[in-house]
Formats: sequence, structure tokens, C-alpha cells
Amino acid sequence: MQLYLLLNTDCNLNCNFCIRGKSLTHDYLDLNSLKYVLQTNDFSNYHLLITGGEPTLHPNLPLIISLCHTHFRGVSINTNGMKSSWVEKCDNKHFHVQISLDGTEHFHNQLRGNGKIDVFSRIINTIDMLNKHNISYNISTTVGKNNYEDIKILCSQISTLHNLKYWKVSPILPFGCADKSNVLSVIQWNNLVNYLLDNAEVRLSIKRLFDYDLLDRYMERNPDNISFPKSNCGNVKYKIYVYPDFSVYPCTCLTDFPIGNLLNDTLNQILHSNEAKKFSDYRVKENSPCFLCKYLPICNGGCIGMSYHYFHELGKGDYRCPLIQEKLHIIS
Ligand SMILES: C[S@@+](CC[C@H](N)C(=O)[O-])C[C@H]1O[C@@H](n2cnc3c(N)ncnc32)[C@H](O)[C@@H]1O
Ligand code: SF4
Ligand code: SF4
Repeated sequence: MQLYLLLNTDCNLNCNFCIRGKSLTHDYLDLNSLKYVLQTNDFSNYHLLITGGEPTLHPNLPLIISLCHTHFRGVSINTNGMKSSWVEKCDNKHFHVQISLDGTEHFHNQLRGNGKIDVFSRIINTIDMLNKHNISYNISTTVGKNNYEDIKILCSQISTLHNLKYWKVSPILPFGCADKSNVLSVIQWNNLVNYLLDNAEVRLSIKRLFDYDLLDRYMERNPDNISFPKSNCGNVKYKIYVYPDFSVYPCTCLTDFPIGNLLNDTLNQILHSNEAKKFSDYRVKENSPCFLCKYLPICNGGCIGMSYHYFHELGKGDYRCPLIQEKLHIIS
């Protein structure tokens, strides 16, 4: 089980595709409240992903890592790589770091820093710092139409990053302030996955979307025992988001659905609440195109946030799915 903990909503960049939306608040997680939450919960089966906003802006990040290390199975920090000084301040260096990099040097600086901030050089400094302390790291790349071709060039350069553990590549999602017209079609995304699988010289963490051949093979193999843990991205069942005020959400794209607050209840109580069951027992509606789909036992209607943000209700299905697009006559 993965627990995403947002240390803040504040950021030192202002990416125009940020899934968290425009940061209008500057909330920072309170250390004493965190200590209380750690004391009142059992997180031993959880992997902690410290994120934000930009978590390295939190003045107590080193202490937070150290406190959390004893309570969680593992700790990762997701950062834009702008700051590296926090690494030296960590007494406990048993963590993994994920750094965002969305293109080659010039492209990334345009995307993340409007061409005015040399974000790329800062990332290289951060990687040097992590290597100096033998801390493992991966690169996370988010792809839309605007950086699609550049990612192929990045692919030819990425193996030069020293000690890179793996390269995670994901499609841009149309949430927060992301521009919907920049989102890739399923065909474009799957073509890129094929290209990267053929050409990348580093370990990849990537997956095709709506890969019906794979779904067919999976269903043939396990006709009577279909359980696919990653259906609906695992919201609530395998993944949970905690915001700086300790509000709990099924996903960062479902912040209209708070399911509890860790200052009032334990995570176990929250996960068994009726609010949480809407997501852990998620079912598509009878009037959804998914209802009669043969892949429903595995896919379970795809991304729940896609249903909510596109159809304005839960249980309608993932509008990116080509089968749904066919039924709705959407031309992508
Ligand atoms: C919201 S950021 C927070 C951590 C840190 N500030 C960073 O940028 O890495 C977490 C991850 O979400 C990714 N992300 C941002 N906007 C996205 C979007 N619209 N769709 C998919 N991923 C997105 C970022 O690239 C990053 O890898
Ligand atoms: S993607 Fe990360 S770096 Fe960019 S604005 Fe959002 S939180 Fe900040
Ligand atoms: S129609 Fe619905 S259940 Fe079937 S593959 Fe598409 S999103 Fe999944």
C-alpha cells in the first residue's frame, strides 16, 4: 500500500500542467500533528511517498524523513530537483528520490522554468549530491503532445545519468491546471511506449493504456480468478493521498471527495468508512458503456477521476478508453 503525503502546497516552480492545480495557498504540514499521526497509526505495511507542492521547501524535511523511516516500510521523496542542500542535512539517508525531468536540457527549462530558470543544471546538482551519498534515485517524466518528440531525444541521452535506477514515464493527465488539448490519445501514448521499450537503454517503468491484447491474454489465463490489483489505479485499496492538513483523499484527482482526516480518525477507520467504500468498492453504473464490456472484471471502468472530471459523475467509465470513445462517437 502506498501513502502519498503532501508536505506543502507551495512550490518554487509554476508548471502550467501541474496536476495539483494553481497553488493559491501556502500550507505546510505541522510537525507536531505529524508526530501525533505517527503515534496513533500503524503504517508498517505502507510505503511513504513524500511529495507536494515541492516537499524540499519544507524546513523540517530531514526530520520528517527520519521520523517516518521507523514507521513506514520505505520512504521516497518526489522532487523537482531544484534544491539539493536538504540531502546533506538528513541524518537518516535510507530513502529513495524521484526527480521530475520532462525533456532535454533546453526543453525542460522551457517547460518547467519558462526559459528563465536553469532547472536542468539544478537537477544535475541534485543527482551529484545523491550519488555522493549513495542514495538511489529515478527519473520521472510526464509526456504530453508538446514534449512528445523531445522525449525520444531524451531517451537517447538518459543513460548518461550516473547510477539512474530506472526511468518512469507517464502520460500527462488532464487534471489541475493541465491543458486538455495537450493530453495524448491512447494510440499516441501506446506508440511512444513501444518506441521507448525498443530504444531505451535504461530500466523503464511504463505501461500501455487499454492494451486489449494483454487484457485478452490475461483473461484467457485466469478465466475464473480475475483480480487485477491496479484496476482504477488502486485508489483507496492500494494508494491513498494525505494533504498538509491531514485530510485524506482517494486520489489527487479526487479532492472533491475527502474521506476523512487523520487528526480525527485513524487511517484504518477512514479506510473502512462509507465514504471510502465508494472508491474501494467502486462499480460502474448500468448506464455506463463499461457495464457490458468484457474487460470490466479487470479494468473496472479505468481511472475514476477521468469519469468524474469528464462525465461529471462517478461510475461512467474512463473517457480515454477507445471502446468508450467508439460508443460516444468521440474522435480523438
Ligand atoms: C505534483 S508533482 C510534486 C512533486 C514535485 N514538485 C515534482 O514536480 O516532482 C508529482 C509528480 O506529478 C507529476 N505531474 C504534474 N502534473 C501532472 C499531470 N498533469 N499529469 C500527470 N503527472 C503530473 C510531476 O511531473 C511529478 O512527477
Ligand atoms: S509539477 Fe511539481 S514542480 Fe511543477 S508546479 Fe507542480 S508541484 Fe511544483
Ligand atoms: S469500456 Fe470501460 S471497462 Fe471496458 S476497457 Fe473501456 S474503460 Fe475499461
